[in-house]
Amino acid sequence: MSNDLQQSERFQAPKERRDFLGLAALWSAAVALGVATLGAMRLPMPSVFPESNSRVKLGPLPSFLASSMTPIPEHRLWIYADKAGLYAISAICTHLGCIVTNGGEKGFHCPCHGSRFDVQGQVTQGPAPKPLMYLQLRVSPDGQLVVDKQAEVGADVRLKV
Ligand code: FES
Repeated sequence: MSNDLQQSERFQAPKERRDFLGLAALWSAAVALGVATLGAMRLPMPSVFPESNSRVKLGPLPSFLASSMTPIPEHRLWIYADKAGLYAISAICTHLGCIVTNGGEKGFHCPCHGSRFDVQGQVTQGPAPKPLMYLQLRVSPDGQLVVDKQAEVGADVRLKV
């Protein structure tokens, strides 16, 4: 009688359920491991890709000659005009990348950790380790002022116009 009971389908059912649950747990673990592996492989890649083209047209050249300073907030920079020509100063703080404010004659101030820069972008108070970046300017064939946001130039470089 006991042997008949063990071989009956009703007695076998719990074993199949255990097999199913075991397989489900195994598949869940395999899927979790696969997702974790994909996530770990993705870690070395930057989550924000650099701009495909760092050169940006800012507008017709004459419009930047009319004013001694033109803010370009969408590109985080200012265009300045002096007797020698045009130059661009980046608004990105050289400490950790916050956007500095432009206080005119008072220079620039970073609200994040208090760095200060003079009107030429030189550090007057840390923790910023370097001056603000001067960016390369060019004129496109169609007469537009073009800035390269990844090309740093010396503070004395001017686009002669
Ligand atoms: S990011 Fe500007 S001082 Fe820290």
